Amino acid sequence: MQLENLNPLFNFDEMPKQELVNSILTGQDILSVSQFDRDSLSYIFRRAREMREMVHRVGGTNLLAGRVLACLFYEPSTRTSSSFIAAMERLGGSVIPITQGVQFSSVSKGETLADTVRTLEQYADTIVLRHPETGAAKLAADYANVPVINAGDGAGEHPTQALLDLFTIREELGQIDGLKIAMVGDLRYGRTVHSLTKLLMQYNVSLRFVSPEILRLPMTIMNQVIDKNIPVRETHDVADVIENADVLYVTRVQKERFSDLSQYEDVKDHYEITTEIMAMAKKKMVVMHPLPRVGEIHYAVDNDPRAAYFRQVQNGMYIRMALLAAVLGRA
Ligand code: CP
Repeated sequence: MQLENLNPLFNFDEMPKQELVNSILTGQDILSVSQFDRDSLSYIFRRAREMREMVHRVGGTNLLAGRVLACLFYEPSTRTSSSFIAAMERLGGSVIPITQGVQFSSVSKGETLADTVRTLEQYADTIVLRHPETGAAKLAADYANVPVINAGDGAGEHPTQALLDLFTIREELGQIDGLKIAMVGDLRYGRTVHSLTKLLMQYNVSLRFVSPEILRLPMTIMNQVIDKNIPVRETHDVADVIENADVLYVTRVQKERFSDLSQYEDVKDHYEITTEIMAMAKKKMVVMHPLPRVGEIHYAVDNDPRAAYFRQVQNGMYIRMALLAAVLGRA
């Protein structure tokens, strides 16, 4: 889908800013966080709050009645797939769920991604795609005539996760500007880190990147951070950042992205957030994790009110409700 082909009858100069943001998202592919500026982020966050209030009050609405979402997942998922399905159903729409493994679809017979999306668009109004290859969402969008939403493309981006992460920071701490945000773990392959870092570059934040040497943030992203004059530091040690961090964003080491598994074994247990580490942190801060976790945060930390990762999961549904409503033009 191309932006210039959308809503050609609108006179953007005469539209209030929030309506303008909505009209720009309508019919759009959501492939990268680079599509969002602070205005569109605050619009999505406002809509997500409205969705939260509506769900708490009445559970659902018929805003997207008659609309169909195809959920096409070439990689495992619990949160992203379930939250998109829940979001669509709470908005009154329906879902084609290819989320239990594409091995049960015609992909197992050799069907290409291009043909798969061109088939699904015959039934659905939008396609949510997760794929192991970076750039797959863009490729799908090039072939599809309905909006494609990137639900994670290899080690590339995971834009809807970054939106919900940023929303969680805003809701937990009441602001984004002025915060010190430390990202810990697999910063090389962790696509949620890549997307969230790009979004945070629009704010007045300080960034700390904590990783083993082989899992450092890619230089392409680090150079963007430096070009934006954002205060930044890299370290191997959580102890260097824990006392000052407002947000500790912890990630899993992504075993599935390693070609040499002995390298994975060397770094897999590098970081463990324990109650002892939390005792060194500020009273007002949050620990976040995109999940799944495989030992990076001890279960004992879950009882700490600063542990925000399950509230973060719930925010994912509200953000995806807001996004689906906007993309399908019913916000
Ligand atoms: N955070 C996230 O993307 O989780 P899933 O892999 O379970 O979708």
